[in-house]
Amino acid sequence: MKIGILADRKGWHVEVLLKALARRGCQADFLPITRLVARVPGDPLVAINGQRLESYDALLIRTIPEGSLEQIVFRMNALHRLEAAGVRIMNRPSPLEQTVDKYYTSSLLASRGLPTPRTVVAEGFDEAMAAFQEFGDVVVKPLFGAGGRGMVRVSDADVAYRIFRALTLTRSIFYVQEFVPHGDYDLRGLVIGDQVVAAMRRRSDGWRHNVSQGARPEAYVMDNEATALCLQASALLGTDYAGIDLLRTPHGYTVVEVNSIPGWSGLQRTTEIEIAQAIADHLLSQLGHRSA
Ligand SMILES: Nc1ncnc2c1ncn2[C@@H]1O[C@H](COP(=O)(O)OP(=O)(O)O)[C@@H](O)[C@H]1O
Ligand SMILES: [Mg+2]
Repeated sequence: MKIGILADRKGWHVEVLLKALARRGCQADFLPITRLVARVPGDPLVAINGQRLESYDALLIRTIPEGSLEQIVFRMNALHRLEAAGVRIMNRPSPLEQTVDKYYTSSLLASRGLPTPRTVVAEGFDEAMAAFQEFGDVVVKPLFGAGGRGMVRVSDADVAYRIFRALTLTRSIFYVQEFVPHGDYDLRGLVIGDQVVAAMRRRSDGWRHNVSQGARPEAYVMDNEATALCLQASALLGTDYAGIDLLRTPHGYTVVEVNSIPGWSGLQRTTEIEIAQAIADHLLSQLGHRSA
């Protein structure tokens, strides 16, 4: 088996995945995703550093760095072409696209009756202000954001006005979500296949509990309700593996995010399970690899 790991750089996650795949007798290569070269007609269809990507049995997408619209669309369409050529891509391109868009994810979750915060997504300043007035206390998120970066909680109309005015200058979409009171932690479940293989409670003094924002990860065992929500959300978005963020509210859980490129360095500190191995083994089982 020959597996490629696509990422912007060879960081810790790539290293542990390479080791986990090598342990199962695979050839595993790090492939810098910003070096894609596609040919028309396709021979090779897509290459990185001279490596023909259609010669890989599977490609694991570890990061897709921020970029221009052209860069992102090109990377995603190259992955679609590779998938059409028979390369197994994990997570698959469509779920990657759908989950990167917080609007699409929220809308899909709600459409299947999964609890998720009320949200207005708009292009116009006036509609964003109206959404603020409707909810009173909101979280404004970058549509394609991650790691809790660039999110602001706003409960003052003047502040909302200034922020929305500033966001019009960057031609941003307004993703305005009701603030959900939830105490000093949230929950992250890591779904691989049809199981929550590990979960953590992320605690911090603020309202935003990303580990990359300083929240402390703690070992946690999800109850049946939270587990079911994680599995439903992952199945709905079609991810092979995903990090699901939940808030616990007085009225039950609510799903705030489905992350199809989740990091797990914080979660790994809370669990004995070797997460990279679990992801690698899931991919190999999908490929029918038996030597594992
Ligand atoms: N509507 C909300 N109300 C209260 N807290 C929220 C809300 N949305 C997100 N948070 C907090 O902020 C964190 C980051 O939000 P999330 O939507 O997961 O964005 P990111 O992609 O940046 O992780 C969540 O894990 C949660 O702790
Ligand atoms: Mg999140």
